[in-house]
Amino acid sequence: HNPELDRLLQAYEWSAKLYHYLLKNTEHGRAAMDYLRSRKFSDQMIDQFQIGFAPDRWDTLLQFLERRNFDLAEMEKGGLLSSRSEGKGYIDRFRGRIIFPIANRAGKVVAFAGRILGEGQPKYLNSPESKLFNKSRILYNLHQSKASIRKTRQIVLFEGYGDVISAWESGVHNGVATMGTSLTENHASMMKALADEIVIAYDGDRAGQAAALKALSMLESTGLRVKVAVLPSGLDPDEFVSQYGGDRFREQIIESAVSTVKFKLIYLKKNHILLEEDGKIAYVKEALQVIASLHSSTEREVYLKEIASELELSYDSLKQDCNLLRASMQ
Ligand code: UTP
Ligand code: MN
Ligand code: MN
Ligand code: MN
Ligand code: MN
Repeated sequence: HNPELDRLLQAYEWSAKLYHYLLKNTEHGRAAMDYLRSRKFSDQMIDQFQIGFAPDRWDTLLQFLERRNFDLAEMEKGGLLSSRSEGKGYIDRFRGRIIFPIANRAGKVVAFAGRILGEGQPKYLNSPESKLFNKSRILYNLHQSKASIRKTRQIVLFEGYGDVISAWESGVHNGVATMGTSLTENHASMMKALADEIVIAYDGDRAGQAAALKALSMLESTGLRVKVAVLPSGLDPDEFVSQYGGDRFREQIIESAVSTVKFKLIYLKKNHILLEEDGKIAYVKEALQVIASLHSSTEREVYLKEIASELELSYDSLKQDCNLLRASMQ
C-alpha cells in the first residue's frame, strides 16, 4: 500500500473520465469525434475502451487536478503534466490528442497513449514509465480480454490500439497489443502463463512483417504454439476491418492464420521474382533452409510438395537438396 501510487491511480481514473466526457459531450471534442467516426470507431467501442480527447490547450487537466488538490509535481512525475520549459509551473502533457487509456491487469488506468488528430509527429505520445507503468510488462486490453483468453487458451497479438478495438468489434475478444516497443521476454512469459497459442496479427507492411518474424521466434522459444495472420500488404488489421468488414477479418485473417513455417515462406517469397530463374532458385535456397531445419519428416514433405507444385519443380530434386542441407547442418 503506497499513498503516492493511490493518488496517481485516482488522478488517472478521473483524467480518463474527464477526457472521455470532453470527447463525447463538448465542442472541444467535436473534431476528434468526427475523426473517430471517419475511421469507423463506433460509439459502443468509444465507450468500452473509454476513448477520450485532450483539448489543444495548456491547462485543461492542470486546472482540473489543481481544483482537486493533487500535488502537481507528483502529477508531472506520473506523466499527466509537463514542466514548463521556461519559468516555474506545469502544463498539460496531452494537448490536442485522442486519448487511449492504458489499463493494468486489474483494469486500473495507469497510462495514456495520445494520438494526434490526423498527420503529425509524434503520431502517438505515451505517458512516461512510472511506478505504475512499465511498458515491457503491460499489454493493452489484457484486462478486458482475460475472460476470452481463459476460455480459448489463445491470444491474438496486435501492434496497435486501433487494431485491438476493431478486432473486438469484429468479435475477436482475445486481442492485446504491446505499447509501441517491441515484444519483450516479459510479455512472452506473461502470455505463456495465460494461453497455449498466440496468433500474431501485425501490420501488413514491411516493418510489421519483419517484427512478426522476430516476435514469433521469441514466442516459440517459450513453448507457445504460434500462428501468423497474414494481412494484405499495406493494410493493418484496423484498416482491413474498415475496408472489408469484421466477418471477413475473422474468417480470412484470424481464423486463416498460417503456421510459422508457412509465414516464413511467404515472407521470403516477397523478396524474389519467381518468374525469373534466378529469383526462383534464390527463393528455393532460402526456403530449403527453413524446411531443412524442421524435425518432422512429415512436415518437411508437406512443405516440399507445396513448393514443388507451386514452382513446377520435382519433389524428388527438392527432397534431395533438402537432405543434403540437413546433412550439412548436423
Ligand atoms: P502504427 O504506425 O502502425 O500505428 O504503429 P497504428 O496503431 O496503426 O495507428 P493509427 O491506426 O494510424 O492510428 C503501431 C503502434 O506503434 C506505436 C503505437 O503503439 C502504435 O499503435 N507507436 C507508433 C508509438 O508508440 N508512437 C508512434 O509515434 C507511432
Ligand atoms: Mn462512456
Ligand atoms: Mn505500422
Ligand atoms: Mn498500424
Ligand atoms: Mn492503424
